[in-house]
Amino acid sequence: MALIFKDETFRDDFTYTNSPATIRRFPFPFIEDQYRYSVNIEPHTPGPKGSVLEFPFDIDEHYVSEMRDRAMVLQDDPGRCQALPHMMTAQWDMLELVMVALARDYPDHFTLHRDGAHWHWINKPLKIDQKFVFGEVNSLPYEPMEYIGRQVQGDFSIQDQRDNQLWMDAGIITSQADWSLDFDVGMNFFEWHAPVPLAHEAGVFERALKFLLNLQIGKPVRRLNWTMTINPRLDTSPENYPKWGTDRTTVTPENVGKKVHLRVEMQGLFRLPRSNAILFSIRGYLMSLEQIVTVPKWGRRLPRVLKSLPQELVDYKGLSRYRQTAIDWLEKYDDGAPTTPGNGPD
Ligand code: HEM
Repeated sequence: MALIFKDETFRDDFTYTNSPATIRRFPFPFIEDQYRYSVNIEPHTPGPKGSVLEFPFDIDEHYVSEMRDRAMVLQDDPGRCQALPHMMTAQWDMLELVMVALARDYPDHFTLHRDGAHWHWINKPLKIDQKFVFGEVNSLPYEPMEYIGRQVQGDFSIQDQRDNQLWMDAGIITSQADWSLDFDVGMNFFEWHAPVPLAHEAGVFERALKFLLNLQIGKPVRRLNWTMTINPRLDTSPENYPKWGTDRTTVTPENVGKKVHLRVEMQGLFRLPRSNAILFSIRGYLMSLEQIVTVPKWGRRLPRVLKSLPQELVDYKGLSRYRQTAIDWLEKYDDGAPTTPGNGPD
């Protein structure tokens, strides 16, 4: 089915909003009334038709506008896209994985013809028609990771695997929740996760790394992560902290429903065939509290989750300045009834 793409902004006047159909498919991250860190990894197998899990790389109504925002971020700061020299094979692996998936899953919008190493890629929404030679960097306008990364929603990092460790040796990261590729590039799994509270002590990262080192080709996995963002802003990077940090002080009981957004990351992990690297996709979804409470189960559950969060998580996710304002507003939608297990709308 052909998607209709919105013309909207994620900065300045913030015209981003979700249509009713997009609200229903939002990956609400809470399966029960409280949230704790865990090794929440499951097979990345196709989910129900129309859901964000139907395909490995989800494209939605925000696609064209998100790609425009990414181009603006890269124009201002080319350091948001970096790859160490030994990652070129992995870059091509990523390009192949994404192009094949998009052309197969969204044939109205993307096509890929392959004749040996001679490839022809057509991206209709972005009006791109590109012939190139697979494996020849000079046949594309950017290096392969950046080329395809500018055409697929979500941030991506690529991890090299060596010495029983994963190393973040490449990435295109323009819509991150307050972490920096420029800072993390070249770090290993434990090093880049160092700022996360509670999880190291609980053995979460040790088990997660062990699992990932054995990830198989063709058997991707996924997990959900979440935080909150003020305004539907994609680029909440440390690099641009002066532009968004103070937004947290602007939340009032009157504007909280519109301003505060739940930011959910559907993260996919794919073993890449030639390089043996791991592609990590971070597909972000934003929804205002006002839109979340249109689903009664979510309106009941979210204030309960926010109330029961450990203080360490509140501090790490940067929620402390407005959490109580959000809870006070959301509690109007919690009638105290039990919620059903699982995260979907009833
Ligand atoms: C290779 C794959 C992965 C990459 C590249 C990655 C990257 C990151 C980064 C950059 C952060 C932010 C750290 C900061 O504050 O500076 C983060 C946070 C986190 N990661 Fe990962 N991660 C990966 C896999 C996993 C897996 C498999 C788990 C499973 C348990 C996990 C659990 C977490 C948790 C719990 C946080 C804290 C998030 C929050 O509370 O907002 N990560 N990760």
